[in-house]
Amino acid sequence: MKRRAFLFAMTAAAVMPALAQGKPTKIGIIGSGRIGSTFGTLWAKAGHEIMFSDRDADVAKKAAEAVGTKALSGSVEQAVAFGDVVFIAVPYGALPAIAQQVGSQLKGKVVIDPNNPVPARDGELGAQAKEKGAAISTAAILPGAKLVRAFNSWGYQTMAREANRPAPRMAIPIAADDPGALKVGIQLVSDAGFDPVPAGSLAASKAFDLGSSVSGKVMTADEMRKALSLN
Ligand SMILES: NC(=O)c1ccc[n+]([C@@H]2O[C@H](COP(=O)([O-])OP(=O)(O)OC[C@H]3O[C@@H](n4cnc5c(N)ncnc54)[C@H](OP(=O)(O)O)[C@@H]3O)[C@@H](O)[C@H]2O)c1
Repeated sequence: MKRRAFLFAMTAAAVMPALAQGKPTKIGIIGSGRIGSTFGTLWAKAGHEIMFSDRDADVAKKAAEAVGTKALSGSVEQAVAFGDVVFIAVPYGALPAIAQQVGSQLKGKVVIDPNNPVPARDGELGAQAKEKGAAISTAAILPGAKLVRAFNSWGYQTMAREANRPAPRMAIPIAADDPGALKVGIQLVSDAGFDPVPAGSLAASKAFDLGSSVSGKVMTADEMRKALSLN
């Protein structure tokens, strides 16, 4: 390898999260309710290190205890500092508060976003985000974060049940604007026990928002690609 190419490869390897290289990584979770605890459990089973956080420290502590030695709990700030990747799983209306609390810490980090705007719960923000598309709305709330959209349109019980089933595995569509973040997200979807289906940009992910034609439907990757016209 020429010296320049070698140096580039070394630099890329140094900045790329361990996960993109197929190694265990540290995942900070904000919101340790149904979705947060489900995915913390699945990623811990896959060998990743987890730090749960929540508005209520006891909720995060219990989620970590349920997982066992691969999981810690801490404050929201500590979970963001801990994670090479951050998974935010809170009611959509809580995202601006999270941006205010840790938005500057999230800049440059890979952030996985499964959050759904629900106007009845999330008010005007929810109505606007539903109209515009959830992912690009989250990206506007968290500028600078390398956002990955995934896991949003299936119930947590369905995903917990279907994860790691024998092939063909359940498909999860995934979208990102940043290619490195997409790579990390694809690995995390796979490590959680699903077949990732890259589905384009954050704007394009409106096609698999909650309430879309694929929402709630358990499909194989081939079926999902067909349903989203990705072939
Ligand atoms: N449930 C599903 O099947 C499902 C499926 C796909 C996507 N989603 C989406 O995933 C997100 C989470 O859903 P969920 O069902 O897991 O909700 P959940 O069970 O209510 O858990 C959300 C957790 O986030 C905490 N939280 C609220 N504001 C916070 C803040 N500012 N900082 C830290 N933690 C905060 C909540 O604490 P408090 O109780 O104190 O408010 C709660 O423990 C939602 O956006 C939802 O649309 C849910």
